[in-house]
Amino acid sequence: MDPAISLGTAGIAAAYRAFGEREARGVSPTYEAWAIGLSEDPDVVDLLATLPRGKRQPNLVFAAARWHGAVGSYRELRTTLLERWTDVRQTILARATQTNEAARCAALLPFLAELPQPLALLEVGASAGLCLLPDRYSYRYDDGTNLDPDDGASDVVLSCALGPGVSAPARMPHVVWRAGIDLAPVPVADDDARAWLEMLVWPEHDDRRARLRAALAVARRDPPHVLAGDLLEELPRTAAEAPDNATLVVFHSAVLAYLDPANRSAFAEEVAALPGHWLSNEGARVFPQTTHLVQDDAARSFVVMVDGVPRAYVDPHGRSLAPLT
Ligand SMILES: C[S@@+](CC[C@H](N)C(=O)[O-])C[C@H]1O[C@@H](n2cnc3c(N)ncnc32)[C@H](O)[C@@H]1O
Repeated sequence: MDPAISLGTAGIAAAYRAFGEREARGVSPTYEAWAIGLSEDPDVVDLLATLPRGKRQPNLVFAAARWHGAVGSYRELRTTLLERWTDVRQTILARATQTNEAARCAALLPFLAELPQPLALLEVGASAGLCLLPDRYSYRYDDGTNLDPDDGASDVVLSCALGPGVSAPARMPHVVWRAGIDLAPVPVADDDARAWLEMLVWPEHDDRRARLRAALAVARRDPPHVLAGDLLEELPRTAAEAPDNATLVVFHSAVLAYLDPANRSAFAEEVAALPGHWLSNEGARVFPQTTHLVQDDAARSFVVMVDGVPRAYVDPHGRSLAPLT
């Protein structure tokens, strides 16, 4: 065998084993079994080695296999991959991983609510724009605070646990303008795009899938505008469209890790030059202001910053907020 391919296959097997043991274990038994099974299966590893390097990641390969019918045990995944490889490969090449987690709004809400209202929301890395709709969801905080949209409870109900000293929002935000920027926006009116986004949710995560479906239905009723483009290029121009009589809030969740450190700094400078406020919800390693807060605790792996000042730890999916101490 060509040594380059063999080096590639060893790397693929190791990457899938690591994914199974570190990311999927305890989170998705299906993906854990698939990743470990695949790492020990040279025939399937050889197939994956024919993919471009950027297209070999488990999340993409497994979602594509499920798109073509794979469910259940590793043996069923293997059958789908071997028997339907042409279709699965085409799906892998044509599509990409993507997420949009509306539940992050529950962790952002306390910080949006404390700003002068009304708000003009500008989200960079907005995906389908589901986090641009915080005023259309219902919230249930574990201190007993319940908040609902003006027209009644939403089909999307977001629960959030508050750590000691972390206050629930006193009100729903009043949003008068909203816009997003994303390299690859998910058009919420497109059935195929919606179905693929749902497929990227891991198999056992029925609650996330149900929430995503419900949030997409809310978004479809009045879709937020998400511009296709790079956040660094589009931010100043898009921000200039926000109305003057509202507080501009530039915000983002789980996005800046995709930029290199120089571009993260360039982004921070761009936001600082704008009027209004900056709300950041990113992994603690992403910005220098938060690296001292890195902890070996998944629920504290993200940090919310307001105008560059760390304010709270956040569960990456918005399930909890915790104090920084
Ligand atoms: C992990 S998703 C998070 C989506 C959403 N913010 C959420 O919290 O659910 C990251 C998003 O950032 C977008 N993205 C990454 N780099 C970008 C860039 N340079 N400009 C605009 N969008 C970008 C991706 O297309 C993707 O939609």
